Amino acid sequence: MSIETTTPGHLECLDRIAAVVGEPNLIVDRDLVAGYSVDWTRRFSGPAVAVVRPGSVAEVAAVLADCSAAGLPVIPQGGNTSMVGGSVPAPTGVPPLILSTLRLRRLDPVDDLAGAVTVGAGVTLAEVADHVRRAGWTYGVDLAARDTATIGGTCATNAGGIRVCAYGMTRDQVIGAEFVRADGSIISRLDGLPKDNTGYHLTGLMVGSEGTLGVITAVRLRLHRPVGTTTVGLVGVPDMAAALDLVESAVPEGERLLAAEIIDAEGIRLVREVAGLQPPLEQEWPYLLLLEVSGDWLELPADSDAVVAMDTATAARLWEYRERQPDAISALGVAHKLDISVPLPRLDQVATAARSCAPGDARVVVFGHLRDGNLHVEIAGVPAGDNELDRAIFAITAEAGGVLSAEHGVGRAKAQWLHLSRSAAEIDTMREIKRAMDPAGVLNPGALLPLS
Ligand code: FAD
Ligand code: MLT
Ligand code: ZN
Repeated sequence: MSIETTTPGHLECLDRIAAVVGEPNLIVDRDLVAGYSVDWTRRFSGPAVAVVRPGSVAEVAAVLADCSAAGLPVIPQGGNTSMVGGSVPAPTGVPPLILSTLRLRRLDPVDDLAGAVTVGAGVTLAEVADHVRRAGWTYGVDLAARDTATIGGTCATNAGGIRVCAYGMTRDQVIGAEFVRADGSIISRLDGLPKDNTGYHLTGLMVGSEGTLGVITAVRLRLHRPVGTTTVGLVGVPDMAAALDLVESAVPEGERLLAAEIIDAEGIRLVREVAGLQPPLEQEWPYLLLLEVSGDWLELPADSDAVVAMDTATAARLWEYRERQPDAISALGVAHKLDISVPLPRLDQVATAARSCAPGDARVVVFGHLRDGNLHVEIAGVPAGDNELDRAIFAITAEAGGVLSAEHGVGRAKAQWLHLSRSAAEIDTMREIKRAMDPAGVLNPGALLPLS
């Protein structure tokens, strides 16, 4: 057993924490800690002093109170599927303690009357989906990392995913939260009353706070009734403007749009190379639009080049072209994974400009959640530390009226560029909120807000 270099005060703090959570739940072995210290993209990593795995809200509170008093930084971590380095330490600075939420496994029975469920932070998205499906409900957030991403992490990042056009972002699902402030005080607002205008909405403040304001230990989630049969299709389109026109007209009367995703030709080529998928259509198109609607058909123009799934196995096969994009680009090495939000009329213009920022020998794929104006511009073949490429694409996005994070958050990756998408007054206000919630500055320092 060994431990990352730290101060005597921090070592004493870790001893007290071991006494609270039990020795097996304080991991100090360097090799084991290293597994928690690099994120999914492999672009972001840094040393941590240890990993703590509290098993209750009381244990989270004791850990945070001790760390605040000792000035030991804490990084909350769920499934560690962050794409922006928010869940792992920075390469420099005081090595933090990683607080893993994976033992916070509360999973209450579904409340049929309220259409809601209360869930611990460490439960995965897939587990929640399964749990509520068995009770006749559906959860409104879904994304490809569903087997690993946690409810706590998706709330902390206000995750989006593939169902936003039908149900909204995570913020629209969270009707209550239990969380622990940096000083160890617990705030519990899990009643989820449909109407409650009693002061500042602290639950809302926690959603999207990226581990900088407190540790979410449980949430109350709004549920939806499933729509029944759905139809999935892939359609070739010349550009995103044409794809957007198709989205509205493809939904049969009385039915609902459930997904409208876009993949460019390079993304299709790459996923075929890496995953060995067959060409989806006879012709190659600049973009493929993936649509999912409720009901049993899609309203497509007669001359469309399209494939429409007639069974669930084919529907799953069509989804593969989209869901395997993040893995496909990462198979080429450490990629720059940018997640921008763009006004719908400017999607084509921004995609073209973003591609032109990358060097000629890099591979660039553009895919994303079309109906939400959310593009993922992902680039392989550029050094991981080339931040100038990211900055150039964020600047183009901001000039077009968009922002540098649509759904992944700011994390450590984009904190230095926050001013491109937020005014000085907004950043000052965020800093004041941070000071109020975490006066010792121990929660996820350097994530979301740049270190000053
Ligand atoms: P982590 O990565 O562990 O943490 C993310 C952030 O939340 C960190 O800042 C961390 O400090 C903080 N945090 C974690 N848990 C807590 C807690 N309990 N309390 C306070 N702070 C906490 N994201 C999307 O929005 N849409 C997508 O479509 C999407 N698709 C993805 C597909 C793949 C294949 C992968 C790998 C990732 C994808 N992501 C997507 C990104 C990622 O899954 C989300 O950001 C997700 O919300 C992170 O959840 P997590 O549990 O892994 O959190
Ligand atoms: C997705 O929509 O697939 C994700 O947000 C992941 C990514 O951007 O790579
Ligand atoms: Zn996405």
